[in-house]
Amino acid sequence: KRPAGAPDRKLARDVSKVGVVGAGLMASQLALLFARRLEVPVVMTDIDQDRVDKGLSYVEGEIDKLRAKGRLDEGKAAKLRSLVSGTVDKTEAYAKADFVVEAVFEELSLKQRIFAELEEIVSPECILATNTSSLSVTDMAAGLKHPERVVGFHFFNPVAVMPLLEVVRGGTTDDATLATALSVGKQLKKSCVLVGDAPAFVVNRLLFRFLGEVFDAIDHGTPVAVADTALDPLGLPMRPLRLLELVGTGVTHHIAQIMHDAFPDRFGVSENLARLAESGATTLLTEDGSLDPELV
Ligand code: CAA
Repeated sequence: KRPAGAPDRKLARDVSKVGVVGAGLMASQLALLFARRLEVPVVMTDIDQDRVDKGLSYVEGEIDKLRAKGRLDEGKAAKLRSLVSGTVDKTEAYAKADFVVEAVFEELSLKQRIFAELEEIVSPECILATNTSSLSVTDMAAGLKHPERVVGFHFFNPVAVMPLLEVVRGGTTDDATLATALSVGKQLKKSCVLVGDAPAFVVNRLLFRFLGEVFDAIDHGTPVAVADTALDPLGLPMRPLRLLELVGTGVTHHIAQIMHDAFPDRFGVSENLARLAESGATTLLTEDGSLDPELV
């Protein structure tokens, strides 16, 4: 089904090579998804070879898991391995790409700089997509020679299984860019929703409101275990702390801060969330899914 407000799909351009900026967890998941669904070469870059190698190892590991589950035969697994590559050389990586998606740290100036650098390498038609979860797509395009090819392309973790994709029309995004992004989203087998360029789009407003209230309750003395399990009867797919683990305490706190700056009357920043982010904790739950005793 076409998302409401979508432009004519005939405007969509073909994509025969994809670039992914970054090789962290989100970027690596994207590289695998694009290669698997579009069956075109996908190149990841990062600031050093070590990071690139980690991203490539993640992709290898996921291909092995799919293979072990019988989701891929050996021929398809080998093809996938050959489609995904990584380098620190951006020119080599992106020269012939027609769709580049960035998935780097959530900082506007960094993303602006990356897009400006990319414009020196790619063709004027190459789509520049951002996986930002909360920043303005319009601001990211400002100052570019071709701001009309910038579009938001916001995925959810774990990328392989979460069906939703927010496609964001920025203030300067043109119809051909949007049509291409929607066509790619469909080929990735995602359910695309077309959203406006407002802080945190739609989903993270709801998600961060929810997580924010859970943490506000903890800040006001509700035991962590109670706040984490109180909504079990509603049948959520994941408890709040598991979700926090998945997204990452640092990333969650950073987005919460962005939300607070955009809507100070509606989004607070929890002192307990700040403390967890500050501690660098990546694991909040023990192996059996219960809370780390130090958090209780
Ligand atoms: N990578 C790849 N595959 C994964 C995975 C991962 N990290 N985690 C789970 N899966 C796969 C499993 O391998 C399994 O696949 P098979 O069917 O092939 O075996 C399938 O997903 C189901 O997994 P499980 O049976 O282990 O677990 P489940 O039934 O509890 O489902 C879940 C797992 C789909 C992740 C579910 O818990 C869920 O929907 N959780 C909510 C996640 C969510 O809300 N994500 C959004 C986070 S916010 C965000 O990302 C945006 C942002 O900007 C911050």
